[in-house]
Amino acid sequence: MSVRAQLDAVTSAQRLRLRELATVAAENSYSPYSGFRVGAALLLEDGAIVTGCNVENASYRLTSCAEQAAIARAVAEQGPQLRLRAVAVANLNGAASMPCGACRQTLTEFGDDDTLILYPGEGGREEETTLGELIPHAFRLEHLESK
Ligand code: THU
Repeated sequence: MSVRAQLDAVTSAQRLRLRELATVAAENSYSPYSGFRVGAALLLEDGAIVTGCNVENASYRLTSCAEQAAIARAVAEQGPQLRLRAVAVANLNGAASMPCGACRQTLTEFGDDDTLILYPGEGGREEETTLGELIPHAFRLEHLESK
């Protein structure tokens, strides 16, 4: 499917719902170190929506981002074949935030270049892009299949 078709395939009502559910998920954030409360909502190919929030750790590098938590939950609930149509990220800090580099790679495992990414931009603007824009030339499973 072309990027345009993929973007159009997610309705504005679904986009709104995803942003809302990501915000609700952020309420459960465990972030005593950064105080940055993040939520993510995944729209799967079958229409299901799965959410997650960031979970920090006293050993800082063990922190799970909201997107990673949502992916782990989605795989646990739906199995390894799931595919991502769209991902919304939200935070309760009124900040701009898009998926970090590690999350871009995590999302790449289950999404494709056309997967829609919704995130809060500067000044509270509702921004959107695609996974292919966020992580061009991504390293994927297919690169390991020639081994
Ligand atoms: N965080 C996320 O949950 N998702 C991102 O894509 C960026 C960062 C979290 C990790 C950490 O708990 C807090 O935000 C500050 O970096």
